[in-house]
Amino acid sequence: ALDNSRGLELRDVAARALEQMAVEMHFQGAGQMFVNSAYRSYEYQEGLFVDKVAQYGEAEALVRSAKAGHSEHQTGLAVDVSVPAQGCAIMQCFGDTVAGKWISEHSWKFGYIVRYERDTTSVTGYTYEPWHLRYVGLEIAKMYAENGIQTLEEFWGFPAAESYSEIAESTID
Ligand code: DAL
Ligand code: ZN
Repeated sequence: ALDNSRGLELRDVAARALEQMAVEMHFQGAGQMFVNSAYRSYEYQEGLFVDKVAQYGEAEALVRSAKAGHSEHQTGLAVDVSVPAQGCAIMQCFGDTVAGKWISEHSWKFGYIVRYERDTTSVTGYTYEPWHLRYVGLEIAKMYAENGIQTLEEFWGFPAAESYSEIAESTID
């Protein structure tokens, strides 16, 4: 049910939950899940961000990709998925596919949330990413879904996304 032919890695707890979700999704006829991106090192994220700047310019890159050191992918608890047979891989139209809708409705049952929902850029700092799933565990995912929460910032009572300069100013390291 889960195609991880790129051999990508997640933390064990997140990997097991993803496998369970893929099995259920496939069983319900919503498609075979493909793992596009999972754990990323600092260096890898750095390269991705540089590529995005080259492709879109800095302002657009910032809402599409985290800078190195700021991506959830570096925790091993975030994964980008697609269903190649349904198209729209790593595109916003994935949210309108059978798989994208299924994931949006059911991922919480496996401890995952769609982390960057539609029209939440001013809070999360990123554009809509229906493919980017964040493992938060069963208990939190259930509360999140039951309360109709759309962002982790809202869930935890964190302020809306800060700019990187604000982060730099407020971080003592
Ligand atoms: N695309 C997401 C925001 C990341 O780079 O982690
Ligand atoms: Zn992602």
